[in-house]
Amino acid sequence: MALTRAVSHAPPQAAPAAVPVARPRLPTAEAVLPYLREIDEARWYSNFGPLLTSLEQRLADRFARPTQVITVTNATQALTLALQAMDLAPGGHVVMPAWTFVATAHAVIQAGLKPWFVDVDPATWMLDPAQVAELSGDIAAVIPVCAFGAMPDMAAWRAFRDSTGVPVLVDAAAAFDTLNDAGLPAVVSLHATKVLGLGEGGFLATEDAQLAARVRQLTTFGFQGSRDSQVAATNAKLSEYAAAVGLAALDGWPGDRLRWMRTAQMLRISLIGRPEVSFQPGWGSDWVTSVCTVGLPEGAAQSVARSLAADGVDTRQWWGGGCHASTAFAGCRREDLSVTDRLAAATLGLPFSIDMDAQEIARVAAALEHALAACWGSRPPEVSAR
Ligand SMILES: Cc1ncc(COP(=O)(O)O)c(C=O)c1O
Repeated sequence: MALTRAVSHAPPQAAPAAVPVARPRLPTAEAVLPYLREIDEARWYSNFGPLLTSLEQRLADRFARPTQVITVTNATQALTLALQAMDLAPGGHVVMPAWTFVATAHAVIQAGLKPWFVDVDPATWMLDPAQVAELSGDIAAVIPVCAFGAMPDMAAWRAFRDSTGVPVLVDAAAAFDTLNDAGLPAVVSLHATKVLGLGEGGFLATEDAQLAARVRQLTTFGFQGSRDSQVAATNAKLSEYAAAVGLAALDGWPGDRLRWMRTAQMLRISLIGRPEVSFQPGWGSDWVTSVCTVGLPEGAAQSVARSLAADGVDTRQWWGGGCHASTAFAGCRREDLSVTDRLAAATLGLPFSIDMDAQEIARVAAALEHALAACWGSRPPEVSAR
């Protein structure tokens, strides 16, 4: 009775804010300040100043073998310039997975080439080199994409390149944490939504000094050691201010990586009793990324997303219906894409951020519990998107 009275006389409670699907966090002003003071002192603001040089060196030092890092305004531009630097036949087909973000295909088109959409492996969500080797038709290049930051089999892709002679460029946009091998040229994004971000930025990592030099030249008006513009190019340099944020982010990376890991572990633990929800292999235990894309039962993504939204939990289908489904790419060549179509309907980006707290995680778990129970009751269905 007392409880009833307490509830009925309580002032109306505002609904708690929705749990956001992402809450990017870049270095604080305090962390960046020492670097800003260096800029003030040096009065060097762009064009490969001391901070950018240091950022590139520190990024290169993360690789197992001697590697060159070329920073670019963003990863989309880095992919475009790397393709241009590879001197591929204009209008050639670049094999890429349909299961990727639209940036991969835009970069191909901007480089004067054509996307050729191929399906992905249902276990890894990535291109399979053996399957690509069986395609019939001329391939100008292949872009394997690291699915949400997972690493493809780099040794298998190197073997593919060496046996076929087809150039391979890895779209490792979300794979800052996992990429430590630049035996194949690879592009990483430093966008604010990534595990290590500086706002807008990206880099090419490569062991090929000639490719690095050509991409560098393309980022700076075609200049290479003189004021003569030697090739058609653009301006895609990062400023010293962007480098300042990047350096502060690298200073904080060892701790931030552990924080990403901790949040991922807490989320995984909260969903232990839910076999219908599957994580990418190694996600949050062997490697970290800034998104949490889970596999759900066949065709369940939309209905689960609607139920979660009603319970105040935001979600995102980060790659929509697959890259091939966007209007811009309607006319592009494609193989059978049934695995991609199934993944698009059975995977969902859950809320995930570096400082997500236990309460938010509990809300996500409870909302998922509710969504899955509403759809399937107590009998868990088959999980399709593994
Ligand atoms: C697979 C993939 N490639 C490329 C990009 C583009 O990166 P950026 O935003 O740095 O251009 C993204 C961005 O999220 C991506 O997910």
